[in-house]
Order: sequence, then structure tokens, then C-alpha cells
Amino acid sequence: DLKDNTIIVVLGASGDLAKKKTFPALFALYRQGFLPRDCKIIGYARTKMDKPDFEKRATSYIKNAEDNKDIANAIESFKTILTYVAGDYEDGAAFDKLRGHLEGIESSYQSKEINRIFYLALPPTVFIPVAKNLKEHCYNPKAGVNRIIIEKPFGKDLDSARDLLNTVKQYWSEDETFRIDHYLGKEMVKNLLVLRFANIAMGAAWDKNSISNVQITFKEPFGTEGRGGYFDEFGMIRDVLQNHLLQVLSVLTMERPVSFAAEDIRDEKVKVLRSIPPIERNDTLLGQYVSANGKPGYLDDETVPPNSTCPTFAATTLWIHNPRWEGVPFILKAGKALNESKVEVRIQFKDVTQGIFKDIARNELVIRIQPNEAVYLKLNSKTPGLYTRAIPTEMDLTYKRRFLEAKIPEAYEALILDALRGDHSNFVRHDELDVAWKIFTPILHWIDGVNGPRPRPVSYPYGSRGPKELEAFIEKYGYKRNSDA
Ligand code: BG6
Repeated sequence: DLKDNTIIVVLGASGDLAKKKTFPALFALYRQGFLPRDCKIIGYARTKMDKPDFEKRATSYIKNAEDNKDIANAIESFKTILTYVAGDYEDGAAFDKLRGHLEGIESSYQSKEINRIFYLALPPTVFIPVAKNLKEHCYNPKAGVNRIIIEKPFGKDLDSARDLLNTVKQYWSEDETFRIDHYLGKEMVKNLLVLRFANIAMGAAWDKNSISNVQITFKEPFGTEGRGGYFDEFGMIRDVLQNHLLQVLSVLTMERPVSFAAEDIRDEKVKVLRSIPPIERNDTLLGQYVSANGKPGYLDDETVPPNSTCPTFAATTLWIHNPRWEGVPFILKAGKALNESKVEVRIQFKDVTQGIFKDIARNELVIRIQPNEAVYLKLNSKTPGLYTRAIPTEMDLTYKRRFLEAKIPEAYEALILDALRGDHSNFVRHDELDVAWKIFTPILHWIDGVNGPRPRPVSYPYGSRGPKELEAFIEKYGYKRNSDA
């Protein structure tokens, strides 16, 4: 745990991720007293800016700054720990300048045990030169610790991911590396461990004997809007399924870890992922949105190549070959430009044995990750009155109602704090990434047309629930609609 003498360097400090996520998270930690004592933050990017410009940018996404005096005051004091250095990503001399700046700040600390944390909020193109330059010019062997925090995309398929990992490894050890998948920092994803292993009733029903099928769903109500050029290189599977949804799946399905220790948790995640074979083509449905309701289609985005077959919607079904899960379909589905914003896990249980109750609704456990965090269980109960009839109803744990005062932390807040504490539990280990790519690489190569023509995604209107083929796709895996899923 880093208590003092720590400098955090945010590289890519003028970019979107830093502005929208990294700095607001750092501010929230600062305000709650979670940053190490005397912590300083350095922004680094190519853009030339003076300190006030940088301060303005770094604090522009902090919420409620206008109408809350405490927040406004905290922002003013947060600014005093910020400094900025402009420099190139490929140029060693620029990193010497950054080192000079670091040493200047460090000379004011009493201790020589100084920690340097480097947060790379950067595009993949400069990832390797920055990892290398940081190690060669800004690593302090006499420091307390040196750590590097990195963000996806980690490659585009198994081979490119291995290249990337191995190159970064030449400079930064696994222990020093914190690979972010921000879904692992989300409150409800962290709750999965508690729901599963702190409840005997849940644990007892958590397998193929009770569960019919599982859906993990990601829906966004907006399209790529100007970001299409970037998105087109990756597509929906790389953007969300291969990382965020697969991470949720692994926590949902792993065996109980021996302890809360990071390696115990990650060992179990890797083990369950290794039991999943590569996805089959006929377990996959791909879609692309078209213009509707006055909203542009994907191909209308000027940054997208004409005739692109890139999927903006994907549903894939995964199978886990182990004694707990054999035969249970896990449907991962994600789409842009849909009718709502929602991320949830929906576990549908099997039918009760027929006999006294026929055609009765199935139990479903829904874990709503966002928005409006909730866990609810659909179960049948007797209709009140002088006759016996079952009616589907709900046991409902909606966070807003149950935890009135609770503030749910942003994923990035939780993860940056973990990285400062040196806790790797919620970061992606190298072998976890490797096995994730093994599962998805064949289907991605098919979509990319590596060995033949590219498959054409079916179309769906902007703002709809997804391709019309989706309903039949889900039913194929045994999902019975008795709800508003
Ligand atoms: C990112 C994807 O990793 O996750 C984006 O690149 C997506 O396309 C985002 O919008 C979703 O994150 P969240 O936290 O808003 O669910």
C-alpha cells in the first residue's frame, strides 16, 4: 500500500480517456483522502499547454463543480498537485525531460523511497515506444515501486496480443504491470463474488442441474458517431465481448478461489476460461445498424470505409466443458445504437418438474450492472386469496432503494486505488488475456475475411432492440421468454 511519496504520471493527458475517466477518478480519490500523502500528478502529452490550460482540461469532467461549493474548493486544491509536461511519445529526449521533472518534484520529498506510477491513457500505436521509453528513461531502480497501468486494446488477435505482451514484458515485469479491464472495477461485477460465495442458497443452485441458460448483455443507445474510423478496425467483439463480457463470465462461472489473494482469484478465472473452446460460426449472430428515426446508419459515418462489414452488434454462445457447466449455453451479446443503455446478467433456471404446476414461469436471477444497479430474482408466489394460483413476482434488491446513502464508486476510482495498493485481483493477468484471445481469434479471423469472404452482418434499425433474428437465436439455446428480457 503506497502511503506517501508517490507521483502518478498520466500519459495521454490531453486525450478523451484521461479527461473523462482518469482525472475525474483521481480527483474523487483525492477528495476522499485515498491518494497517498503528498501525492503529485503529472500530465504528459504531445499537445503544448500551459498549466492553467491543462488544469482546465483535467478538471472539465468533474461533476457538480458549479453548484457544489465543497467540490469547487476541492478542485482548486486538487489543481495544486497537478503539473504538465509536453513531449513526444517516440522521442527518448522528451522522456529525459519528464525524468528531470520527476526528479525536481522528488527532491522536495524527505524520503528516497519514492514511487512512480505511470498510467498509459494512450492509443495502441504508441503503446510500445512509451513502455520502452518509460523503462529506459523514467524508471527509478532506487524507487519504492515503479508501476505501469495500461488499457486495451491489447492486440487484435492471439498472435498480435502475444507480440505486444512479450514486448512490454521485456521492460515491465508482470508484478509491475496492471492491465485494466474497467468492467472488473464495476461495483456489481465485484458483487458477483459475494453473491456467489457468501450465500449458501445461491451456491447450491449455481450449476447445470438448476440453470438452463445465461445471457450477459451490453446495450448502448448510441452509434459510433465520429469514432467509426477507430471502431471499424476492431468491431463489437473486440470492443466489448472479448474483454468486458468475458471477464464478467469468468467471475460468474469460476470455482471458489482458495482466498481473496489476487493469484488465487486469477488462477480460477484462467482455469474456467481454459475450459471454453473457440466460438463456432453457427453460435454467432452479427449485425450492423442502419439509419432509422432520423439517426444515421453505421455506413453513413464518414470515418467508416464504404461497404464495411464490421459488426456493431454481436451475439455469441460459449460452452464451458467442466462438470459444473457442461451443456449450459452462455450467450454474450452486445450492440451499439440500440433502444436503451443497459448491462446485465440474466440467469434463467430450469423448469420445475411437471406435476402440480404446469406452464409456470421459470425463475430468473438478474444482476443489473448498470444503470440503476440491482439484483432481482423472479419467482412464483401464491396469488393472495382463497384459491391457489401461482403468479410470477420478484424479490428485488434495487440499490437506490436499499442503500439510500451509498455512493457507488466509478470503476476507474476502484481500479486506480487497487493499483496504488498493489492489488492485482481486478486486473487482467497475461495468461488470462492469452486464453481470452484463443476463444475469440478463429471467429474474428472469419469476420475479418482472413481465409475467405467476410460474412455480411444482418442489419437492424438504429434505436431498435437489435436484429430481428435475435429472438430466434436466443430461443435456440433454450431461453423461454416469460419476462421483459
Ligand atoms: C469501452 C468500449 O471499453 O467500453 C466502448 O471501447 C464502450 O465502446 C465502453 O462504450 C463502455 O463502458 P461503460 O463503462 O460505459 O459501460
